[in-house]
Amino acid sequence: MYLGIDLGTSSVKVIVVDDKGNIIDSASSKYPISYPKPLWSEQNPEDWWQGTKDAIKRIVEKNPGIGDKVKGISFSGQMHGLVLLDANGEVLRPAILWNDGRTQKQCDYLNNIIGKDKLSQYTGNIALSGFTGPKVLWVKENEPEIFNKIAHILLPKDYIRYKLTGEYKMDVADASGTLFFDVKNKVWSEEMIDILSIQPGWLPEIYECYEVTGIIKKEVAIELGLNENVKVVGGGGDQAVGAVGTGTVSDGIVSVSLGTSGVVFAASEKYVVDKENRLHSFNHANGAFTQMGVMLSAAYCLQWWAEEVNKDIGADKVYKILMDEASKVPAGSEGLLFLPYLTGERTPHADVNARGVFIGLKPIHTRGHMTRAILEGVSFGLRDSLEIVKDMQIPINEIRVTGGGIRNELWAQILASVFNHELHIVEASEGPAYGAAILAMVGCGQYPSVEAACKELIKVSKTVKPSEDDAKVYEKYYSVFKKGYPQLKNMYQELSTII
Ligand code: XUL
Repeated sequence: MYLGIDLGTSSVKVIVVDDKGNIIDSASSKYPISYPKPLWSEQNPEDWWQGTKDAIKRIVEKNPGIGDKVKGISFSGQMHGLVLLDANGEVLRPAILWNDGRTQKQCDYLNNIIGKDKLSQYTGNIALSGFTGPKVLWVKENEPEIFNKIAHILLPKDYIRYKLTGEYKMDVADASGTLFFDVKNKVWSEEMIDILSIQPGWLPEIYECYEVTGIIKKEVAIELGLNENVKVVGGGGDQAVGAVGTGTVSDGIVSVSLGTSGVVFAASEKYVVDKENRLHSFNHANGAFTQMGVMLSAAYCLQWWAEEVNKDIGADKVYKILMDEASKVPAGSEGLLFLPYLTGERTPHADVNARGVFIGLKPIHTRGHMTRAILEGVSFGLRDSLEIVKDMQIPINEIRVTGGGIRNELWAQILASVFNHELHIVEASEGPAYGAAILAMVGCGQYPSVEAACKELIKVSKTVKPSEDDAKVYEKYYSVFKKGYPQLKNMYQELSTII
């Protein structure tokens, strides 16, 4: 038996799989997120730990005997969050999360004064407000009393590893998103550590995602009802581990995740960096590399539309009614476009001030048109990242899709037509948690490699083909969509100074 822990932004999910990879049970716990100031987004690491313990205990209690059989645990974690600990391993301040946008000033300094060329040369990436490095600078400049007490820097899921094992360790895939990791050589970047005033001793030891990083502490094993030999395997950032969960582990496979955020993820044997750093260049969980584009609001756009703007319809039927209406509207929403930047954007625009917009509203437009325009706008946003993958000559033989949004049949059809490419939907309802369980299995020797495990365990459940007619219509709308952000860039900036 193996546990896969997915430490997400709104909840932690724990799954248990048997030695053949069958999911036996799962449990999850929610925790709060706080937004103490505009653009800030924080969580208390202790809430993650309590939630994780609680979910594990519930699984162990519900499945008598399972605690003795668990051989390994691994993780998928929300990336980029800054967790600061003092010399006693105590949390110094709330974790600053991946979707926190407070570091524009620090990013401008890194990108413009240090220079994008140097950052890219040292790390494979440039400074984006979600990344960890700019947050370290922010703490140095704004909370010097905290900065002076730092003894350890971790990412969110590594705090759980620390609580389980007492070890300060991290994996290559999650470390890639810090902006102080040399992705190409898989070591901390000496130059970046210096630029960010980080002391080398604050940084954890680095492992591959499928390597054993320690053994569970005896007192923790007793508290959780597990045996004392449980191995804790590297794990990784949620996108890389989610890609393992869809079998996106060899060249030619691209996975697209339509979750709260949207991700286009290309597996790559070779380390490649786009000359303009339009995609994130990170380490993959199978020991190779990846090119990744991240949209900050993907399925979240529909969630906002359904659960906020149209909440009066009622939670039990709002999605069904909206989708029925949208399905009656032709492709292109009769001239209505939606720009999906509700919470700013990362790929390809890297702008915390970008916002959502409907363009082209006219009296014939109904709620159905607006709903469909949202599904189409998010699909166009994902296509932006796919186009960069193509532009970098990364082969795309197969596109695998996953995430809550793809269960929506209309959306899957629209996405296939916007991409003008067949989509393979993967039977991986547990997503990144399943990828984490696979890494635990590989770490404990159940499979010889991540690729071998994926080959045996990951199945495509459904194929969605593009509609030729719709694809032609979308081609025209996409060429207009692409012009939207550049036209509005200055207005977004001006607007952000008023509110
Ligand atoms: C990836 C990213 C998100 C977060 C939250 O770069 O920012 O996937 O990890 O899920």
